[in-house]
Amino acid sequence: MNDRFPDDSAAEPLVQRAAEAADPSEEELAVDPAAMRAHYRAEGLTEDDLAAHPMDQFGHWFRQAAQAAVHGFVHEPNAMVVATADADGRPSSRTVLLKQYDEQGFVFYTNYDSRKARELAENPYVSLLFPWHPMARQVIVTGTARRTARDETAAYFRTRPHGSQLGAWASEQSSVIASRDELESSYAQLSARYPEGEQVPVPPNWGGFRVAPQAVEFWQGRENRLHDRLRYVAEPDGSWRVERLSP
Ligand SMILES: Cc1cc2nc3c(=O)[nH]c(=O)nc-3n(C[C@H](O)[C@H](O)[C@H](O)COP(=O)(O)O)c2cc1C
Repeated sequence: MNDRFPDDSAAEPLVQRAAEAADPSEEELAVDPAAMRAHYRAEGLTEDDLAAHPMDQFGHWFRQAAQAAVHGFVHEPNAMVVATADADGRPSSRTVLLKQYDEQGFVFYTNYDSRKARELAENPYVSLLFPWHPMARQVIVTGTARRTARDETAAYFRTRPHGSQLGAWASEQSSVIASRDELESSYAQLSARYPEGEQVPVPPNWGGFRVAPQAVEFWQGRENRLHDRLRYVAEPDGSWRVERLSP
């Protein structure tokens, strides 16, 4: 067998190392990610564990992933793989950073002329995947994406470091460029025009997408590959049905 699931015995030293490295205080002990993993591996995820709303359940797992990141156990817990498809159904995927989540869904920021944004303009159906491998967890969302309001985009843009603000202007994301020099000279011109400390306007072709979930699956790795998969599915009346999927 050359495939490797989190519950393979090959994963054990990783869990052990994380537990040893954490050296938590008594207060931290309850949220030690290695202990959490041992706990979940023993007990798994049951229907009774789940919050009523998938975004609350996501918040619960996201906080645990963030805690795992504090211990260096998960890297960039807000990194997610966004899959889109064009009007003919041809798929593409890439990693982006989650920047906000609330009862309305999941928000990321990007260039509106990028491949992903062009595909979303043709076909708003989207899938997100959070790969929290060291925790033997993944969350998979399917739903539809729409652009965030301009004021929401502007509020977020102003929180970005100056260099990232200029980078958003400098990059014609997803287009073919002749050389790296082209990108760097565009950045240099922008830094001359907007030196550090000067407010950079929000690029008109840059902004957020909010993904409103239609289904959210919480996957927890278990021993012997008998993983738990619990999926919330939106009902027409706004409530959520939970179903268990075979691993
Ligand atoms: C960890 C990580 C985080 C990223 N975050 C973002 C992001 O938040 N927004 C973004 O537009 N691209 C982000 N990227 C770059 C994208 O993966 C991708 O290269 C870019 O958005 C162009 O994708 P597209 O041509 O498919 O539209 C990130 C890449 C990595 C590896």
